Amino acid sequence: MTSKFTIILAAGKGTRMKSKLHKVLHQIAGKSMVDHVLTQVEQLHPEAVVTVVGHDADAVKAELGDRTQFAEQKEQLGTGHAVMQAEGILGGRRGVTMIVSGDTPLLTADTFNKLFAYHADKGAKATILTAAAPDPTGYGRIIRGELGTVQKIVEQKDASPEEAQINEINTGVFCFDNEALFSALHEVTNDNAQGEYYLTDVIEILKNRGDVVAAYKMPNFDESMGVNDRVALSAAARVMRNRINEQHMRDGVTLVDPERTYIDADVKIGSDTVIEPGAYLKGKTVIGSDCHVGTGSTITDSTIEDGVTITSSTIEDSIMRTGSDIGPNSHLRPQSDIGEGAHIGNFCEVKKATIGAGTKVGHLTYVGDATLGKNINVGCGVVFVNYDGVKKWHTNVGDEAFIGSNSNIVAPVEVADHSFIAAGSTITDDVPFHGMAIARARQTTKKDYWDRLPLAESEEWK
Ligand code: UD1
Ligand code: MG
Repeated sequence: MTSKFTIILAAGKGTRMKSKLHKVLHQIAGKSMVDHVLTQVEQLHPEAVVTVVGHDADAVKAELGDRTQFAEQKEQLGTGHAVMQAEGILGGRRGVTMIVSGDTPLLTADTFNKLFAYHADKGAKATILTAAAPDPTGYGRIIRGELGTVQKIVEQKDASPEEAQINEINTGVFCFDNEALFSALHEVTNDNAQGEYYLTDVIEILKNRGDVVAAYKMPNFDESMGVNDRVALSAAARVMRNRINEQHMRDGVTLVDPERTYIDADVKIGSDTVIEPGAYLKGKTVIGSDCHVGTGSTITDSTIEDGVTITSSTIEDSIMRTGSDIGPNSHLRPQSDIGEGAHIGNFCEVKKATIGAGTKVGHLTYVGDATLGKNINVGCGVVFVNYDGVKKWHTNVGDEAFIGSNSNIVAPVEVADHSFIAAGSTITDDVPFHGMAIARARQTTKKDYWDRLPLAESEEWK
C-alpha cells in the first residue's frame, strides 16, 4: 500500500479577512475552518499530517493540538515556500502527499479519496483537484493544452485576459508523488506579480520534466469554495448549514424552515424532534428524540434528553432531563441540571443548580447555587440569594417543599423535606421537616382610614 501524507497550509495571515483573528480560525458552523479540514483529512488515516503554521502560529497550534505535526514558516513567502517547510518531516519519504489549504472548509473526505484514486489511476506525479467556478475571480486558472492535458496553473494576478476567461479553477488541493514534490519545489522562483513562491508553479515544472500531470475535476464547485474574506465566509457557512440541516432531516428531524435554522457541525439530534426557525444549536449539544425547540432558542454545549420542550430560551452548558420543559424567555446558565419532568416557566434564571424531578419553578424566579429535591413548588418571584458580595453560598431544599411567592432564600440555608415557606418571607434560618417558616412583617390594618382624608368631605368622592 502506498503511504499517504497530508500537508495543511495555514501560515498565511489572511489579510482580506481584515481581522485580529487568524483566517483559518474563523468559524463555520461552530468549528474553525482548519478544524473542518483536519476532521476530513483524519478520515483518510494518513501516515503523517503536517500543518504549516506561521502567522499566529501559537493560536493555530492550540486549536489543533496533537492531532497533527507542525512545521513553522517564519515568513509567509507563498504557498510553495510554505510546503517547503514540511520537507524536514516528509522529505525523502516514499508515498503520495496531499496538500490542502486551511481555508477550504467544505471539502469532504469522499472527495479526497476520489482524488487519491484518480491520481493512482493516472499514474501521475501530480494531480490537481479542480472545479468549474461560476465566477472564477481570485482563483488560479487551469491551463489545458490542445489535447486537454494540464499544462500549468496561472494565478489571477498573473493571468492574461484570455486566461482570466477560463472558469476551471485550482481548488488548492493536490496529490503529489512526495519525492517529486520536494525536488520540484527547489526550482520554484518568486518571479511573478505577487513576488511569492507559488506551489502552483510545481505543475509546470513537473510537466516540463515530462512527468504525468493530471487534473481531477470535481462536479460540485460549492464544495471547493476557498474563503478569503467575510463574504466568502458567509457563503461557505450557508453551504455548510444546508449540508448539516439536510443530514438531520434525512435522519428524521423536522426543521420547520431549514433556511433559518442554525446547527453547529458537532450537534446531535434524535428523531421526531421538531426545530422551529431561528433556533441556534451550538457546540457539543446533544438533543434527544421527540423534543420541541421553539423559535429564538439558543442551546450551547448542553444535553437535552428525550421529550423536552424548549420555548424561546437560552441554555448553556446544562442538562435537561426527560420530559422537562422551559420557557418562554428563561435562561439556564452553566451547570444547571433540570430533573425529569421538571418545569421551568417564564422569565426564570437558573445557575449552577440542580432541580429535582417534577419540581416546578414557574415564573420570574432566580435559582443560583442550589440543590432542589423532587416535586417542589417554587412560587412566583422567588430569589435564591446566593451572593453576599464576597462569596457564593449554597442552599438545599428538600422534596415536596413549598416555597411561597416572593420569598428570598438567603444562603446558606437548609429547607427540609415537606416544609413550607410562607409567601413574602426572607428566610435566613433553616426550616425543619414538616415545619412552616413565615418571615415577614405582620400586617397592620388602619380601620376607617378613608375618613381621615380631606377628600372624604368632597361631594365628588362620596
Ligand atoms: C490559492 C492558490 C490558487 C487557488 C486558491 C484556492 C497559490 C499560489 N494559489 O490562492 O491557485 O485557486 O488557493 O483557494 O497557491 N499560506 C501559507 N503560507 C504562505 C501563503 C499562504 O501557509 O506564505 C496558506 C494560507 O494560510 C492559506 C493557503 O496557504 O491557507 C492558501 O493561501 P491563500 O493566500 O488563501 O491563497 P489564494 O490566494 O486563495
Ligand atoms: Mg485562499
